[in-house]
Amino acid sequence: MKRAIVYESLSNGNTEKVARAMATVLDAKLIPVKEARLEELIYYDMLGFGSGIFAGSPYRSITGLVGKLPDMKGHKAFVFSTGGEGNPKHHRALKEKVLSRGFDFAGEFCCKGEVSKMKILFWTINFKEATNPGQPNEEDLENARIFAKNLLNK
Ligand SMILES: Cc1cc2nc3c(=O)[nH]c(=O)nc-3n(C[C@H](O)[C@H](O)[C@H](O)COP(=O)(O)O)c2cc1C
Repeated sequence: MKRAIVYESLSNGNTEKVARAMATVLDAKLIPVKEARLEELIYYDMLGFGSGIFAGSPYRSITGLVGKLPDMKGHKAFVFSTGGEGNPKHHRALKEKVLSRGFDFAGEFCCKGEVSKMKILFWTINFKEATNPGQPNEEDLENARIFAKNLLNK
């Protein structure tokens, strides 16, 4: 089974850490959203879509990409995120897009991610105090690996 994980990790690289942990278990190709090609994605049997959360939703780059995919009936997909809250309710827009493409929905994972900086164009603003410092930590990454292992049985 061919698997790939497409991710956008703009703020701290938090979601990329989770994506890497899952990719090792799934033997999946890691594809930053900027490098994703629709004509390549359609050949994967399972796709994971991961994102940080901005203003309550996954980054638009990732939901936009999923929305451009053709009918993906017969292919599996899962979604994941890191966020200040680490709340799966923030997946809604991405999940809707995945379902609208006809994917067989395989599951979702989220954990908290450090919130310590904000990037605006070429500038980075560092916050005085970080929220969720050090997250995703080893425990979060282990949970991500367990989630990925369970996907192998689906
Ligand atoms: C400007 C800004 C807005 C954010 N909005 C939310 C939010 O609405 N909900 C949430 O749970 N986390 C929010 N976060 C936290 C990020 O989603 C979190 O740091 C995430 O791990 C970033 O992932 P990344 O490093 O992969 O981009 C926000 C962070 C920033 C800097």
